[in-house]
Amino acid sequence: MTRKFNFHAGPSTLPLSVLEELQAELVEYQGLGLSLIETSHRSPEYDEVHNRAMNLVKSLFGLPDNYKVLFLQGGATMQFSMLPMNFLGPNRSADYINSGAWAKKAIEDAVLYGKVNVLYDGKSSNYMSLPDPESITSSAGAQYLHITSNETIGGVQWKSFPRTQAPLVADMSSDIMSRPLPVDQFAMIYAGAQKNLGPAGLTLVIIRDDLLAQEQDGIGAYLRYSTHAKNDSLYNTPPVFPIYALSKVLTWIQNSGGLGAMEQRNREKAQVIYQAIEQTGGFYTCPVDPGVRSDMNIVFTLADSQLDKPFLQGSEELGMIGLKGHRSVGGFRASVYNAMPLEGAKALAQYMVDFAEKKG
Ligand SMILES: Cc1ncc(COP(=O)(O)O)c(C=O)c1O
Repeated sequence: MTRKFNFHAGPSTLPLSVLEELQAELVEYQGLGLSLIETSHRSPEYDEVHNRAMNLVKSLFGLPDNYKVLFLQGGATMQFSMLPMNFLGPNRSADYINSGAWAKKAIEDAVLYGKVNVLYDGKSSNYMSLPDPESITSSAGAQYLHITSNETIGGVQWKSFPRTQAPLVADMSSDIMSRPLPVDQFAMIYAGAQKNLGPAGLTLVIIRDDLLAQEQDGIGAYLRYSTHAKNDSLYNTPPVFPIYALSKVLTWIQNSGGLGAMEQRNREKAQVIYQAIEQTGGFYTCPVDPGVRSDMNIVFTLADSQLDKPFLQGSEELGMIGLKGHRSVGGFRASVYNAMPLEGAKALAQYMVDFAEKKG
């Protein structure tokens, strides 16, 4: 089998070595006579995997002891409501930055639980830019400030982060573990796993004790962060398969040189593609403000939209899939998460240049 270069935005490409290890162990895990996903989540074998994944999250990010790592379900979408459910209320407020489609969804849920102050709305730039982090001041009494570190649809990415009075919370679904982070600037980070961390079905939450202490009363057990924090994410049956895969993806990140190495590789891949866009003299356009272009999701359009179909078809013939832009914006989007090899980015850039020469 020849594996395709998979540019889908998520679920997305995973490291081949991780898939191969999972395949090799799937029917029988380490002489157990059964698969790891058939064993109890209270078994010593599963416990070891669960703890390994948790410890790798801590060590890769260099998390201090006052942070808890939680393995939840419900996707990042559940966090859009779980976060305000836990920390907002009729007399509480939070600050949000509206940077695009995903931030908007987070805001739509938050307003159901308390007062929301939108500190910045990217509407005037059609969500193709971001505010200067230094210019952001949180509102008096805000429980937290919510940002979306990378807008998966718009292709805008924060390059540094606000430092405000209000605890910073970030939806990092589409760029988690893609670069080192100043973790102590964040009170909470959450991400659906299905881009940089593993298969769908797991949501990673990292939360600091001082924010955890602000939890509201009257919330059902599963929906309280403290339930999972107190039980090491074993209050109920956790999503064992994605956590098992996560432990392998994180080992792969560690063996590849950690988050610094991921960042370097991701920058290089993104630059190769942005360079192809820039060098073709208007044949392709990236509408995003150059200062905040995403290293994960590269969006572009063709000047002549009549060429969209042949462009897509030609890419698929060469084994490159998933380049069609999100249905809400059209155009094209190349998602180049951690597991996309540099050769994939180079193949796409070469195809873009060749196509422009042929059709331009
Ligand atoms: C930035 C961002 N936030 C939230 C979501 C929603 O995630 P989920 O499908 O895990 O609920 C996505 C999904 O692509 C996303 O990219």
